[in-house]
Amino acid sequence: MNEPTLTYKDPSQSIDLRVDDLLARMTMEEKIGQMTQVEKNSVKLEEIGKFFVGSVLSGGGGSPPENTVEGWAEMVDSFQRAALGTRLGIPIIYGVDAVHGHTNLRGATVFPHNIGLGAANDPDLMFAIGQATAVEMLATGIPWNFAPAVSIPQDIRWGRTFEGYGEDTDLVTRLAIPYLQGLQTPPEGWPKDEILVLGTPKHYLGDGGTVFGSSTTVIEQQRYLLDQGDTRMGEETLRTLFLPPYEAAIEAGALSIMASFNSWHGEKLHAHPYLLTEVLKGELGFGGFIISDWEAVNQVSDDYYTAVVESINAGIDMVMTPYDYQAFIVALTRGVEEGRVSTLRIDDAVRRILKAKFSVGLFESPLSNPTLKEVVGSKDHRELARQAVRKSLVLLKNENQTIPIEKETPLIIVAGEGADNIGLQSGGWTIEWMGKSGPITPGTTILEGIRTAVSPDAIVNYESSGRFERNVGENGKPMIADVGIVVISEEPYVEGFGDRANLTLSGEDVDLIARVRKHCQKLIVIIISGRPLVLTDQLPLMDALVAAWLPGSEGAGVADMLFGDYPFNGRLPFTWLRTNDQLPLNINNSKSDQSLFSFGFGLET
Ligand code: GLC
Repeated sequence: MNEPTLTYKDPSQSIDLRVDDLLARMTMEEKIGQMTQVEKNSVKLEEIGKFFVGSVLSGGGGSPPENTVEGWAEMVDSFQRAALGTRLGIPIIYGVDAVHGHTNLRGATVFPHNIGLGAANDPDLMFAIGQATAVEMLATGIPWNFAPAVSIPQDIRWGRTFEGYGEDTDLVTRLAIPYLQGLQTPPEGWPKDEILVLGTPKHYLGDGGTVFGSSTTVIEQQRYLLDQGDTRMGEETLRTLFLPPYEAAIEAGALSIMASFNSWHGEKLHAHPYLLTEVLKGELGFGGFIISDWEAVNQVSDDYYTAVVESINAGIDMVMTPYDYQAFIVALTRGVEEGRVSTLRIDDAVRRILKAKFSVGLFESPLSNPTLKEVVGSKDHRELARQAVRKSLVLLKNENQTIPIEKETPLIIVAGEGADNIGLQSGGWTIEWMGKSGPITPGTTILEGIRTAVSPDAIVNYESSGRFERNVGENGKPMIADVGIVVISEEPYVEGFGDRANLTLSGEDVDLIARVRKHCQKLIVIIISGRPLVLTDQLPLMDALVAAWLPGSEGAGVADMLFGDYPFNGRLPFTWLRTNDQLPLNINNSKSDQSLFSFGFGLET
């Protein structure tokens, strides 16, 4: 007679019943293993089973040696098979930062970063991007995305400004929730009805409100300025500014939330029982699990044992301990044995984790789905991304009927490294953690889009340096182009590496604009950046100015707008400053006449 199906293995049973049944069968060792997340390079397959590891992640750029769909699927499935071979067969949940597409994976669709999506301000688009991202992730067997960031950056000197949809709480909530729902909602006709991919609103709480210069973090000899710093506003302001997206995310079914590196009045969020447990889990009723950030628990105390005890007791349920995960297991085991961490707390954490694993269907579909391979970087997804690029562009200046450019324009000159560089137009969190200049993944550059858009007899000359002196006419004089396009771009960065004291254009960029100005009748400047930059003095030289943010792989979407295939409708999601010394400058602390362009500004065509 067949052995009766154990309740936790029976998909016809309720999730609560399955969790209760499984929890009751688990040893303390198995429970603590579930609370452990380790980076894929720090654990051997046999250790997954030995330590009952509950989760594995790829950090930014954490690709397998073969960075293909098959390479990823083989890596993730190998960890999963090791977990399925344990006594109770509890699957791992693998997580990545697919913050603007599954962009550690070469060939995946790279959507505009959140700052551009904030300018687009289109909730339906957000849902579609979330769902497209989820399906590309599942092709590699990954059901957990450490996104959306619901950061609300209040000081654009922060290196993570581009990960926020904007400086306004309502805008962020309005866009983050449909993205989360898109991540978690299976497409029409999908064979399963569980959560598609687990989303993770982050970083709770107050990540975008830290005071300039308050960070004490030093990584690779780089001293952070704002990232991981101290948020010093009062509780009412903290709640009003930062809590709404989390409240809405919980209502929308979020089952994991990532805690933030920052402190509030000097107290680390990762060891803040009031904000993590009383507010998030109690007052807001969050029933999912809180994941720590990367080694953030280590920052709680100089004594690691104390750090583990305090963060788990404060409400952290799973610890992202990318390297020495065994030290975490030893510390938490000691904490339980010494009565510093109660078994009730452990059971609560594991219950939350298991609930998420059952909800995402991991026990029924633990492995990658090779039939999804064609979806990765598909024509449809790239068209969706190109549409997002178009909607994200903000037209800040347009005089002398400069935009739209006639496709028959005889001579167009283009300058700037960012005009022909997928890496620069994609920014951080793309193939590598920091991102990287160059042809790092398939897509179209802005220049390629321009060349495709113009009529066959139009001439497009590209000189990255803007040195068009050699462009001479029959009369031996330098030719004057009908239109000049200069693309100014920030070098890619992430996190505190992008913290900047000074957002003024570089000397090279100022010279580039002045140089091209001399060689064209009408000058268009396109800014590729993760935030507004100081360009007040250069504005008079421009006939037109476009903020393109970090558009991702489909740079041709920029050309669509320049040549009038679609109308401009983007609006600034951040206040655009006049001078650096105005910072921090946002709608919560300034009047619109102080800015060069105010929050919500954007010309239409
Ligand atoms: C990073 C980031 C966080 C990311 C995590 C895993 O430090 O703070 O946003 O999800 O580590 O890569």
